[in-house]
Amino acid sequence: MSSSFQPQAPFLTTADLQQAVDILKAGGLVAFPTETVYGLGAHAENADALAKLYAVKGRPTRHPVIVHLGHADQLGDWAVEIPEMAYRLAAAFWPGPLTLILKRSSRVPDAVTGGQDTVGLRVPDHPVALALLQAFGGGIAAPSANRFGRLSPTSAAHVWDDLGQDVDAIVDGGVCQVGVESTIVAFQDGQPIILRPGMITPEQIQAALQSEFRPETGNAASVTRAPGTLASHYAPRTPLKLVSKNALNEALSRLQPDQQIGVLSFSAAIDDHAAAWATMPASPQAYARQLYAKLRELDALKLSCIWVEQVPMEEGWSAVSDRLNRAAFQG
Ligand code: TXA
Ligand code: MG
Repeated sequence: MSSSFQPQAPFLTTADLQQAVDILKAGGLVAFPTETVYGLGAHAENADALAKLYAVKGRPTRHPVIVHLGHADQLGDWAVEIPEMAYRLAAAFWPGPLTLILKRSSRVPDAVTGGQDTVGLRVPDHPVALALLQAFGGGIAAPSANRFGRLSPTSAAHVWDDLGQDVDAIVDGGVCQVGVESTIVAFQDGQPIILRPGMITPEQIQAALQSEFRPETGNAASVTRAPGTLASHYAPRTPLKLVSKNALNEALSRLQPDQQIGVLSFSAAIDDHAAAWATMPASPQAYARQLYAKLRELDALKLSCIWVEQVPMEEGWSAVSDRLNRAAFQG
């Protein structure tokens, strides 16, 4: 697949992490790998850096960003009135693809939270992210390193394709192993509520809390503002349609020669009229890892439509299913 990846881009390797730290300390923007997706990082306590972050991202300033930390024991520096359950989830899943929404401490500037009294915190499970965070020492505010509303990047080349020279540096840590954004958990009336499904499932959260109740996936709008919960978020530019396996086969058999269709299916290509075909893995983990890269590849082909075979209605698939439904939304 073609990519505008170029060696003269502001790429850093893991050997140049001190340079990345210096850029962040000076108020610059550094994209870095996490286990979920690449983040667009800024000094979480530097208002100018945050203003630049929102401008490059193209994101409304009232939408909060997650603060990334190098150690779970920094939790108390960034949040107050932390519920016991939050400590238990942090102990069970950090470093890992879980974001906790907690009451913010005075250390957290308004620019990070969009003025809300809560802050999203996460310790990512990626050696490069952890090394960068620990060398930096403080919190790094980072949304996904894509323009607002577009697909999240899962490689350094994706970041370059989206943001180019608008970032001061991109730390290349390879392909993200989880591939979709973290599970976001908030607490409401003493109970955990999932604001964004991720690869850490409600069942795993229930088990970690030894609770009788499985946390629900809440309507985030009722709790707080979370742009990842806008229906049209995470979309490729090409229209995308979710179809059952039968409907897919049926539609393919009736394809007109002038229809440029891309297919994402669990099966190997069964039709040579499709303009592009990606065969997806049967496990949700492997599917999630490849999803955004495959959608980007298909998106670049300027097809009339992308047809995606429906994924199983099982809990392990909830993050993938959530992202596909948003990508399919024509709003
Ligand atoms: O996996 C991830 O979470 C990635 C990596 C880079 O860590 N980050 C990510 O960030 O997906 P972003 O900004 O693209 O999505 C973060 C989501 C947004 O929907 C945001 O509104 C929500 O987290 N969020 C952040 N702080 C919040 C808060 N205080 N209350 C409610 N939602 C919050
Ligand atoms: Mg995002």
